[in-house]
Amino acid sequence: MNLYSNPHIFFLIQESKIILWDYEAHLQYELSEDEFFLLKNYQQNLGSPKLKTFIDANILSYEPYKKLNWAWDELSKIFFIGTRNIIPLNNDNARDFSKSYIQGCKDLEINLDQKSYKNIITLPKANLDLISNKQYLNVLLSRMTSRVFKEDMYVSLNELSLFLFLSFGYVHGEWDEFSKKGFKKLTFRKTTPAAGGLHHCEAYILVYNVEGLDAAIYKYIPEKHGLYKCSEIIFHRELIEILSGQFFIKNICFGVFITANLEKLMNKYHHSEVLRSAYVDVGALVQTAQLNSAVLGLESFITGAFHEESICKILNIVDIKKSPLFFIGIGYGARQAIPDEFVKVIDDVKSQ
Ligand SMILES: Cc1cc2nc3c(=O)[nH]c(=O)nc-3n(C[C@H](O)[C@H](O)[C@H](O)COP(=O)(O)O)c2cc1C
Repeated sequence: MNLYSNPHIFFLIQESKIILWDYEAHLQYELSEDEFFLLKNYQQNLGSPKLKTFIDANILSYEPYKKLNWAWDELSKIFFIGTRNIIPLNNDNARDFSKSYIQGCKDLEINLDQKSYKNIITLPKANLDLISNKQYLNVLLSRMTSRVFKEDMYVSLNELSLFLFLSFGYVHGEWDEFSKKGFKKLTFRKTTPAAGGLHHCEAYILVYNVEGLDAAIYKYIPEKHGLYKCSEIIFHRELIEILSGQFFIKNICFGVFITANLEKLMNKYHHSEVLRSAYVDVGALVQTAQLNSAVLGLESFITGAFHEESICKILNIVDIKKSPLFFIGIGYGARQAIPDEFVKVIDDVKSQ
């Protein structure tokens, strides 16, 4: 008989207590010194009945744990895995979700910065006339996060194609400056900057209402400017559950899960500090994607609050390093940041 130890644990000594932290399952246990040493030396104590507690808690197992090919340090692994699957699935209806969201806001205490700054240098009034391209300004100002989408609206396949190309495609083609100098083709340019030009982020498209395209989940392949079908579409209500009850996506025409591909970054960068850039990359990408939907006369909803493992299941992703980082839902919006259900709940409370 052999036993294997869970690779996703660490120990924390805090206020003279020994804490065992299972960061994948998000569980913590306080150990006595005896338990700690028994676990440390479990290989020499395989016959001890006391090991059962650890086996029951999945700290030790008769089955080997899946090996994760993680090229960076433990710290980055703890952060990346330890912050996954925190947001719960939620199948509350829109009213219950709105009620608990609004209650949560009421309980919030915002500490506004009350510092009074002295010696402020007043800047000249921002002169918008300096921008010759007024359309640029219009697009910037029309970007917003919408939480209401109109029913039964369709985008055309051309609109989807353009959105994907402008957001995730190789709009610049070959990077001439590099290729002309005979440099190896390692990087690309898109409409968004990306750490090392690697563009580790990938886009999975949930197609609902796109004219001429079957509802399904597709991966966008920038090299071909094409779509690869990965799986069947899920109902809006299942998507809402995965997005922890955020019913705002009801009626979107399509959605995009932007996923990480950390392997790309690991190949080039050997220190985990680049994990920070991985998140910055996705932020920049989302801004561009929101602007691209605005320029097409569409509106978008964005969120990073979701249950990663459930998403990986529907996208057919098995590698944790390819976890989803962000979601953007797109459709014909009502330019409303506050959904009607929120307003109803607030009105009901006022009238009580
Ligand atoms: C990192 C990040 C996470 C966000 N997560 C959510 C979210 O979970 N749910 C949501 O309704 N909006 C989310 N938003 C949208 C913000 O609430 C929104 O950008 C903000 O209210 C400002 O509105 P605007 O985008 O229309 O300017 C998120 C935005 C960012 C940048």
